[in-house]
Amino acid sequence: MTLFDRVFSGNDAVYGLTEGAIDAAIAQHGEDKAVSFPDTAYSLPCYYSVTGTKVTTLKELKEALGVVKTLMTREKRLNDAFMSGIATALCAEFIEVLKYIDGATPYEEPCYGHLADAVIRELGVPLVTGDIPGVAVILGSAPSVEEGVALVKSYQAQGILVTLVGGIIDQVKEAGMNTGANVRVIPLGKDVTSVIHVVSVALRAALIFGNVTPGDAGTLMKYTMDRVPAFVNAFGPLDDVVVACGAGAIALGFPVITNETENIFRVPKSLIVQEDVSKFNATSLEARDIKIKITNIDIPVAFASAFEGEIIRRKDMQVEFDGSRVDCAELVHTCDASEVEDHKITVVGPEVDEMEEGSKNSIAYVVKVAGKNMQPDFEPVIERKFHNYINCIEGVYHTGQRDMQRIRISHAAYDAGFRIKHIGEVLYSQVKNEFDAVVDKCEVVIYTDPAECTRIRHEVAIPIFEKRDDRLANLTDESVDVYYSCILCQAFSPSHVCVVTPERLGLCGAVSWLDAKATNELDPNGPCQVITKERPINEDLGAYEDVDEAVQKFSQGALEHVTLYSIMQDPMTSCGCFECICGIEPFSNGVVIANREYAGMTPLGMTFSEMASMTGGGVQTPGFMGHGKHFIASKKFMKAEGGIERIVWMPKELKEFIADRLNATAKDLYGIDNFTDMIGDETVATDPEALVEFLTEKGHPALGLDPMM
Ligand code: SF4
Ligand code: NI
Ligand code: NI
Repeated sequence: MTLFDRVFSGNDAVYGLTEGAIDAAIAQHGEDKAVSFPDTAYSLPCYYSVTGTKVTTLKELKEALGVVKTLMTREKRLNDAFMSGIATALCAEFIEVLKYIDGATPYEEPCYGHLADAVIRELGVPLVTGDIPGVAVILGSAPSVEEGVALVKSYQAQGILVTLVGGIIDQVKEAGMNTGANVRVIPLGKDVTSVIHVVSVALRAALIFGNVTPGDAGTLMKYTMDRVPAFVNAFGPLDDVVVACGAGAIALGFPVITNETENIFRVPKSLIVQEDVSKFNATSLEARDIKIKITNIDIPVAFASAFEGEIIRRKDMQVEFDGSRVDCAELVHTCDASEVEDHKITVVGPEVDEMEEGSKNSIAYVVKVAGKNMQPDFEPVIERKFHNYINCIEGVYHTGQRDMQRIRISHAAYDAGFRIKHIGEVLYSQVKNEFDAVVDKCEVVIYTDPAECTRIRHEVAIPIFEKRDDRLANLTDESVDVYYSCILCQAFSPSHVCVVTPERLGLCGAVSWLDAKATNELDPNGPCQVITKERPINEDLGAYEDVDEAVQKFSQGALEHVTLYSIMQDPMTSCGCFECICGIEPFSNGVVIANREYAGMTPLGMTFSEMASMTGGGVQTPGFMGHGKHFIASKKFMKAEGGIERIVWMPKELKEFIADRLNATAKDLYGIDNFTDMIGDETVATDPEALVEFLTEKGHPALGLDPMM
């Protein structure tokens, strides 16, 4: 059989199964039965992105199958094979969606099945920063458990997001490996059709971040080829269905690497035979042109971003450090070069060996840095990275910051030889690695002696934190001379530009004005550039000629005017990875805000995902705007439309998170006490009538404002 025959026969087989499954579903439920995947605003995302048509019922699904049939041409040309590959993928999506009828939850631990839009939005920043350098799709059973696990771990150690389909899932389970989105190993499902759930992620990324028009299949495939760094590892023996799926992957630009040697035809850079499974990793990275940042740190356990989300349970921990119970601190301290001995690491107090198993202890680490270009403003920027650095250690867990951090070291890490001094090693290496433009010398002192921890916390750290807080509180848009651009997300949203100001952080929530300033200093030609603010047009809108010029330049002409403080007039664009989205609520003259974690309904009749699908891809959409959580309490939030008094609804959790700061802002701006109590949430109303009733009862100020449109 030729490769064409195999693709066509696999495609025919899946098509037959799909037709049978749809007919059976219609016989059982009737053709008006609704079909959908949970937590997505993109219908059946693959079919929608390829054709532009949303499928909502079994009847429409049957019609869609007719459209799929038209892709299944049978000339022995490459394009026919690719289209049959796409057709196979679409059939897989149809089979999968049938599993979700009636709100069923067809996937059980450890499998995920369909992934929500919110998961994709969360992946935005780590993908653009290269923190997740690629996406591996591993399909089938490895020749042995050991080889399968070794392959998965090799990707994990590189930070690559791994998705698993079929027999490999049982293999990693058998080996006792931890899986889950938090460790970047996601078992999708055991049927081969579940591979569609990762394809769906890639295609939705094009819609969410790339502003690709659904139905524009050419642009869609170019987007996935150029911007989604995915690849497939398929273990032989391959059946024709897998071969047909592989043709679909290749059509999207994802190379397929297999150890099958029989009946397979090599296609350079696309279909690659690698008999040696231990070389899959290297072959795949080369084929997809993925470069890995190498971090060699001298510690006895692994260090990789994939371990960032790892959780250490009480029963698995050797010792714990807990700033909420005992005195702890973490601090970056700028010193004179003469006071710092580079790479010196000192532990003052007991090591883990001398601590009782399971005990709670004090810890305070002071990272002394010196450098010609170092500024005290960069201290918190560096310090905030400690959370990420310490978490990337396999078997070590970190939460919190400043003097409220909490660290756990697992039995396994301890048994492997991990000690407190290694925390110093990690902090030293990472600070030198990432901040080499400002840090010339770095020394780490770690205190575990309780009296010393108390001294460091109260006499050294807290006074510094207070000084910093004062500086931050006085840091307003008016008080600085420049703003910064951020174009990191252009990797996925080619025309998106964030303008970052002291009072308006980047919409991802990860880039404050200080961060942007530090980034600019560290890499003057990098993503954050200085934007002057010398030629204001309208200060209420936050409109400046300088800002307009900058966004024109950085968006390559896609944007002309951007205001900083308006949601209606030339609002800032969104890439797709925003923490929150706000949208206007016409009945109350206000806005509703939803955060990414909130899965329920809002009074706009839309979920977060649906609201989010109204904007993104680097285009301006008046009335909807993505933003960071901390922007909500800013005096500049929607300043042009009256400010935070326009906020009428937020999910309860978000409201509680932001309450203190929002209340303070409302008091300052309008003299209102406990403003958050006037704001509705899902326990009060998820429809506009009930919301307006609640707002009226509370005397919410938005009701008296002019309509926004
Ligand atoms: Fe992306 Fe804007 Fe965040 Fe930069 S600030 S990473 S462009 S969302
Ligand atoms: Ni103009
Ligand atoms: Ni983004």
